[in-house]
Amino acid sequence: MSETETKVPRHVAIIMDGNGRWARDRGLPRIKGHEQGAESVRAVMKAARDLGVEILTLYAFSVENWSRPAAEVNGLMSLLPKFLGKHEHLLHENNCRLRAIGRLGDLPPKTLAELERVMSATAQYSERQLVLALSYGGRAELTDAVRAIAVKVEKGELRAGDIETETLTAHLYAPDLPDPDLMIRTSGEERISNFLLWQLSYAELVFMPELWPDFREAQFEEALSIYAKRSRRFGGLAAC
Ligand code: IPE
Ligand code: IPE
Ligand code: MG
Repeated sequence: MSETETKVPRHVAIIMDGNGRWARDRGLPRIKGHEQGAESVRAVMKAARDLGVEILTLYAFSVENWSRPAAEVNGLMSLLPKFLGKHEHLLHENNCRLRAIGRLGDLPPKTLAELERVMSATAQYSERQLVLALSYGGRAELTDAVRAIAVKVEKGELRAGDIETETLTAHLYAPDLPDPDLMIRTSGEERISNFLLWQLSYAELVFMPELWPDFREAQFEEALSIYAKRSRRFGGLAAC
């Protein structure tokens, strides 16, 4: 096996972008793009398993996405429980734990209930993890972390002078997760859009031109091969 073939990222985070444009290009309502996008999620889950990726974090809905028209927001909020019901078996078959990060309390009760049901049904698995970012914002996450730390300081449980980088990490939504090694954004847009601002510090960023509904196994594999050719240095010097 060659050197590059062995460099599989442990944690891949994806900004699944371009569903609306995919639908518009076909004269379809935007929700049809989201439905096709759900098929890409299934395909990428399988590809991640086959290629040996342990953790997949998917940006499914941002705090800013609440500003979209109600019909689209409602469509997305009912798509999630449908998707989970249809594909829950994949999580069980692959020892994959479902988790969620974000301001989950903002989700409609039915969406949250189904999410919580599948999260507890898969909580015992430790081989793989699928993390959905829902009502997620990087700034919101950092704000929530700072608030939780401030409460501890107020209560006298923590001294301000003892706050370290690790303290902040420990107060994130899923503090035990390692940082993503690779962040992929589809649809040709080259920005972070408030995703994992803290955790992406040293991630390799790969921007792919395909719209998310067109992003399947082959494109995921291509993104991983781009990653495998990168040299990560973390501020140090490359090992030659
Ligand atoms: C990404 O696709 C999915 C969500 C943000 C929920 P978009 O809906 O942003 O699609 P475009 O960017 O408008 O094409
Ligand atoms: C980012 O995509 C959010 C998700 C993919 C869930 P957006 O389409 O919302 O981001 P912008 O508006 O293009 O920056
Ligand atoms: Mg978009």
